[in-house]
Amino acid sequence: MTSQQLIDKYLEFFKSKGHQIIPGASLIPEHDPSVLFTTAGMHPLVPFLLGEKHPQGKRLTDLQRCIRTVDIDNVGDNWHSTFFEMLGNWSLGDYFKEDAIKLAYEFLTNKEYLNIYPGKLSVTVFAGDDTAPKDDEAIRTWLSLGIPEERIYALPKEDNWWGPAGETGPCGPDTEIFYDTDKEKCSDKCQPGCGCGKYVEIWNLVFMCYNKTKEGRFLPLAQKNIDTGMGVERTLAILHTFDNSYETELFKPVMDLLEDKLSGHSQDFNDVSKDPIKSKRIIADHIRASVFLLMDGVTPSNLDQGYILRRLIRRAVRHAKLLEIKKEEKVNQQIAKLYINIYKERYPKLLEQQDIIINELQKEEDKFEISLNNGLKVFAKITTNLKDNKITGLDAFHLYDTYGFPIEMTIELAKEKNLTVDEKEFNQEFIKHQELSRKGAEKKFKGGLADHSEMTTKLHTATHLLHQALRQVLGEQVQQKGSNINPERLRFDFNHGEKMTPEQLANVEKIVNDQIQKGLDIKMEEMSVDEAKKSGAIGLFAEKYGDKVKVYSIGDFSKEICGGPHAKNTKELHHFKIKKEESSSAGVRRIKAILQ
Ligand code: ALA
Repeated sequence: MTSQQLIDKYLEFFKSKGHQIIPGASLIPEHDPSVLFTTAGMHPLVPFLLGEKHPQGKRLTDLQRCIRTVDIDNVGDNWHSTFFEMLGNWSLGDYFKEDAIKLAYEFLTNKEYLNIYPGKLSVTVFAGDDTAPKDDEAIRTWLSLGIPEERIYALPKEDNWWGPAGETGPCGPDTEIFYDTDKEKCSDKCQPGCGCGKYVEIWNLVFMCYNKTKEGRFLPLAQKNIDTGMGVERTLAILHTFDNSYETELFKPVMDLLEDKLSGHSQDFNDVSKDPIKSKRIIADHIRASVFLLMDGVTPSNLDQGYILRRLIRRAVRHAKLLEIKKEEKVNQQIAKLYINIYKERYPKLLEQQDIIINELQKEEDKFEISLNNGLKVFAKITTNLKDNKITGLDAFHLYDTYGFPIEMTIELAKEKNLTVDEKEFNQEFIKHQELSRKGAEKKFKGGLADHSEMTTKLHTATHLLHQALRQVLGEQVQQKGSNINPERLRFDFNHGEKMTPEQLANVEKIVNDQIQKGLDIKMEEMSVDEAKKSGAIGLFAEKYGDKVKVYSIGDFSKEICGGPHAKNTKELHHFKIKKEESSSAGVRRIKAILQ
């Protein structure tokens, strides 16, 4: 079975069970700029899990591309990856636990579909705590389907609870389905979820019936939802009895290319500092994730998604160096072309963006070479007058943070000079830095689609007013290039070639405040994409919600395709003030504004 056949089978199966097939969303949450990446199929559906009506109905299914950077340190093992494709089915207040489990079991074991031998399946369920009781209903359902008690494991929240995607929002207990690869048990305690790789998780069924609040309380949701996620790479691998994802058609050409490159070299792989299998997998994973991020419009930078992309590319370059693959071979470009070829039917945008993808990869590699050389000069300086032949952790961290030197590279370079590195101090610095960025990330989660706080909602409406006011002042060519809202302020990026004059800014502010004063009602209508376009609505939301979209009108002033939520009347916004107008990137300006 090919990956496309697996995907088609899944979507067709759920279609035959009354689900509408909806298109997957971008890796960059278009209308939820408060989180960096789409991490699961449920993410773009948060408003609907919270009770908003979805234009396509209560049963949905799709294929969603995802990025999970939390798994980055596990990349190199058999199963983890940063980028992956997830198949999902949703019930928005329609069927629940028993039916969801039965549907999954039918798809997995029925000979018309995946025809997996049931004896190979084990499941985990939520063991219960003070938030929610033990999941006896899930256990009963699995037993009724013939999964014996000894292959049903009740595990705590860390294992069997999913969500919310941000700080607040929909979540609930889950049941996870594992496939036994027949590997030796890692110990007497070996079981699904132990992480040794014997049991591989292929599908997660979430019983989404709680909403986590800011205070950390779990309140029952008005509607009980189902959210599921099946990993395409993993499922494809087990169907072919591979014990890792890299042997599947999705990676094979890339792994073969890397193998070819290595056979031409004469490395001594007895060197313990090198792990060629891991390095090959890291290159294969990171370049694949980079290709899809570039396809979805991210470019390498020192900020947000761009920074993650930068690190993925640099880490891949670094591992190619470890494998002694020469820069001149342009291996990453060759790999990117292979991926474009593998995925081009499923994602035609890859072909359209091919030149950009290849150029950006090359540009970033070239930049890394420069910082690498500068870093090497700094390294030489650091190591001229060392006490105790030991590089301090602070210096090692400086090399990591400023010149992108991974710690293993600094250690390796040190070794060549018979020096050591204070790794303990480096790790302390690293953790300190991570805590700082985690705090940043937590702040980011605030104001997400799951956060319907009053101020966020009002700022969302103010963003529409600002968008339209900019079009009136600067011209109809103005389009949103990005948006980010937190409870304190809005941030809006748009195409415009030069700095706005004070007069233009004052004019925009006045137009927005005039609309606020008028007390305009905000109305929502559902319509087809065509109708929305014909009605003059602006915004590019079509790819996300299939045929039907929501259009928000603010009096006769603004009409925009959007997922919401919004204020009811502009009066609620009080007063709009622009705090800053600056450049965001070439040809793109950024406005930060508040409501007071
Ligand atoms: N949202 C669930 C997951 O990503 C299905 O595992």
